[in-house]
Amino acid sequence: MDFLTKHTSCLSNLELNLAPGWQTVGAYFLLSAGGLFVLSKALTFVRVLLSLFILPGKSLRSFGPKGSWAVVTGASDGLGKEFALQLARAGFNIVLVSRTASKLTALSDEITSKYSSVQTKTLAMDFARNADSDYENLKTLVNELDVAVLVNNVGKSHDIPTPFVLTSEEEMTDIVTINCMGTLRVTQLVVPGMMQRKRGLILTMGSFGGLIPSPLLATYSGSKAFLQQWSTALGSELEQHGITVELVQAYLITSAMSKVRRASALIPNPRSFVKSVLSKIGRNGGSPDYAYSSSPYWSHGLMAYFLTCITGTMGKFVAGQNRVMHESIRKRALRKAEREKGKKST
Ligand SMILES: NC(=O)c1ccc[n+]([C@@H]2O[C@H](COP(=O)([O-])OP(=O)(O)OC[C@H]3O[C@@H](n4cnc5c(N)ncnc54)[C@H](OP(=O)(O)O)[C@@H]3O)[C@@H](O)[C@H]2O)c1
Repeated sequence: MDFLTKHTSCLSNLELNLAPGWQTVGAYFLLSAGGLFVLSKALTFVRVLLSLFILPGKSLRSFGPKGSWAVVTGASDGLGKEFALQLARAGFNIVLVSRTASKLTALSDEITSKYSSVQTKTLAMDFARNADSDYENLKTLVNELDVAVLVNNVGKSHDIPTPFVLTSEEEMTDIVTINCMGTLRVTQLVVPGMMQRKRGLILTMGSFGGLIPSPLLATYSGSKAFLQQWSTALGSELEQHGITVELVQAYLITSAMSKVRRASALIPNPRSFVKSVLSKIGRNGGSPDYAYSSSPYWSHGLMAYFLTCITGTMGKFVAGQNRVMHESIRKRALRKAEREKGKKST
């Protein structure tokens, strides 16, 4: 008798020998395990809906009194500018950190003219340089302030979707230096003061690129996955010091970086997105399985929930769909670049 026949016959003997009572117990066990599984999924989904649509987040005031400061990196445009404006409206004084001094001055003027009681300070620094002198200047600035909120927003993606082997060394280095080193170094400057005061909020801009592997944006995707893990670990370290840490997960938002101009249900503008972040602090939104993280904008939250439900079993399929989408964006970007080159040469 070969191996298969022998084992099949053993199994059928076992089935025949099982008393009817045990078969019923087995059936009940399977049914209850299945029922519990479905119930836990349903409860998690209800939690997601409550978090996205009903429950409020922690009050921003709980992180620092009126007159305390918020530090925003990448503050001169897009999401950073909106974080600065909305935190100023909530009564925080703002330190604006970004590359272009003239844009920082313009934003500082806008804030002080809109909110007369709010003070601002600006620091122009290029995070791609990773210069000790820049971080020394920032340290001097923040050491004399009661910093209640840090928004690690500065970030760089690939200029256009590009296969990893064709990515230039400069682009790779800039993405890792700005997204990862910039965030780590700024956070190390701000955390000691927060620990002394036993309060504070640290928000870091993550991305769906850090949740789901993004072919043709591999380095950006990796840098955001790094921030996801780093921020979660930091969240656990700092919770005991009274500091709230949150990694903000986002799909597309209209901005210079995304190159999307028209807002839609899936792609909000920075104002709506930032409003959802600041009103849902401490809620997971669509990311109940990620500690110290949130996907707070309603449509992004629903997407995050469903995508993370299926990536475990369908990871290859999701990455493949992502690759096809980025290949098509790359083709269109290259065609546009060709057209513009043609216009210039005529
Ligand atoms: N937009 C999206 O669809 C999206 C989706 C997911 C996550 N995110 C994340 O959200 C964050 C903000 O993105 P965004 O779309 O608002 O970007 P954005 O509109 O391009 O603005 C980027 C900001 O960062 C500053 N910046 C860029 N490189 C810098 C450098 N080397 N040194 C100092 N400052 C620098 C820019 O300053 P200048 O004005 O001087 O250039 C600008 O203020 C990023 O971390 C991004 O990864 C965005």
